[in-house]
Amino acid sequence: MTDIKKLISEACVASVAKLAHDTALSADDVAAYLEYPPDRAMGDLALPCFRFSRELRMAPPKIAAAIAEDIIGSGALNGTASCSVVGGYLNFRIAEEYLISTVLPMIMEQGEDYGGNNDGEGKTVVLDYSSPNVAKPFHIGHLGSTVIGHSLKKLHEFCGYKCIGINHLGDWGTQFGKMIVAYRKWGDREQIEAGGVDELVALYVRFHAEAENDPALEDEARAEFHKLEEGDPEDLALWRWFIDVSFKEYNVTYKQLGIEFDSYAGESFYTDKMPEQVELLREKGLLKLDDGASIVDLSEYNMPPCLILRSDGSTLYPTRDIAAAVYRARTYNFDKCIYVTAAAQSLHFAQWFRVVELMGYPWYDRLVHVPYGMVSIGGEKLATRTGNVILLRDLFNTAIEKVSDIISVKNPSLSGEEKSSIAEAVGVGAVVFHYLLNNRIRDMSFSMEDALNFDGNTGPYAMYTYARTCSIKRRAEADGVVPICGAVTTEEERQLLVTLCRFGEVVRGAVHDYEPSVVTRYILDVCADFNRFYHDCPILNAEDARVKATRLALTSAVNSVLGRALSLICIKKTEKI
Ligand code: ARG
Repeated sequence: MTDIKKLISEACVASVAKLAHDTALSADDVAAYLEYPPDRAMGDLALPCFRFSRELRMAPPKIAAAIAEDIIGSGALNGTASCSVVGGYLNFRIAEEYLISTVLPMIMEQGEDYGGNNDGEGKTVVLDYSSPNVAKPFHIGHLGSTVIGHSLKKLHEFCGYKCIGINHLGDWGTQFGKMIVAYRKWGDREQIEAGGVDELVALYVRFHAEAENDPALEDEARAEFHKLEEGDPEDLALWRWFIDVSFKEYNVTYKQLGIEFDSYAGESFYTDKMPEQVELLREKGLLKLDDGASIVDLSEYNMPPCLILRSDGSTLYPTRDIAAAVYRARTYNFDKCIYVTAAAQSLHFAQWFRVVELMGYPWYDRLVHVPYGMVSIGGEKLATRTGNVILLRDLFNTAIEKVSDIISVKNPSLSGEEKSSIAEAVGVGAVVFHYLLNNRIRDMSFSMEDALNFDGNTGPYAMYTYARTCSIKRRAEADGVVPICGAVTTEEERQLLVTLCRFGEVVRGAVHDYEPSVVTRYILDVCADFNRFYHDCPILNAEDARVKATRLALTSAVNSVLGRALSLICIKKTEKI
């Protein structure tokens, strides 16, 4: 909550207390009711007083009037804001003086640190995200895990948490049995070295096509995976090679996004850590035999059983997740362990979270699953096994090419090298922004045209606005203009400051809801306010020197806030476009 919101809610709760005598409301309750009205003519913050009508047994307009009278009479807001009554609402308008002599200097002083906090001091958060399945395509379905996960990491870091980002690679499981069988039957080493992960995917797709007519292939694959689990050296060598080939491609994508992980311990890392957990499950009497397989019965919790061992003794996805969680609890002693995956895996997480609780691990309630919806392109769902998939790499490359064409027209003076690094940042940024504008749990239809529209609510528009603030700063420096926090002279300046004032609250909200889209939408608010200000108020051409220097300070503040906000949602800022 901003300081001003805190002050207003404290003043309101004090007034409500006078009206109700024994109210149980706290300033936090009131703060939760305070809203930023979409119609700004209504004020900067509004309190809907119908919230109190039951407790106070009064009509909302009367409540609003009574609180207003009390607040004005007591001078509780101390000149930081004024209030007025409109129907059942109490509207607050933040004072220019507060914005210019408290908010703006704070942003100027803190720069890109402005908006952060220490909520997470001394706490550790493990984040498990991206985690593609080796030798399968790294496709648009992984975009969510990769960028939501990385944003959540940055957001937590900005709130003072110590964060460990883990790429829980899907580098173990029967699919490797399939890959080994397919490679031995139809693969060619040189072709794979040259064609990379695409060739591995082609083998995987072929395996499934052939297995439709020849079900024995599935048995062969299972046997081969079993050999791998037993440590067969030839199979292990092939498996390692599949991983290397896959990583060559993933690293291109991670580099474009500016993402690095603190750990790449994938599923295979837990091979020798699973027996201890299986043993514990057995000791606790949690394992049941079901058609030869070992399961944990979860019918009491209205869930299908959690599979721990197949009838041939091989382990499964949940077995590895349980062993991984135990390892992470021991290694990192986490306060939260966050898993970012498609919502289709929600049941999987609910199941094994419950198993961990039944096993008696005290940290079971620190596990958090953060699911996200499906992405389609032009309404088509994207299947993994058919080969009909959109690869993340292709998606980024298409965007980069298109942006490159656009900026060649917009800014022909850019040098070749500059142009290609800007096109990469803006192209990738466009895709990420478009994706992260969506509430994560909602299914979305991805439209490249919408993502790349420089005039829409897009990444390129936001990045362009950021670049504009950079260019003004550069010119000011050349002209020797020094920013000052003088006075607010227009409504545009005032509204821009009100929006900047909200940043810290936006950050907390995004962390609380595990929702980067809160930041993305906020970026658009800042851009809209800044561009209105830019068009209506001359900055470096302002006649009055004090006005000019203040507007420069405002531009600089926008630069800091936008710069930080863009990096929180995994977008690389560019100083020029
Ligand atoms: N590799 C899985 C997939 O691509 C995601 C792994 C998520 N993390 C986990 N600990 N299960 O669907």
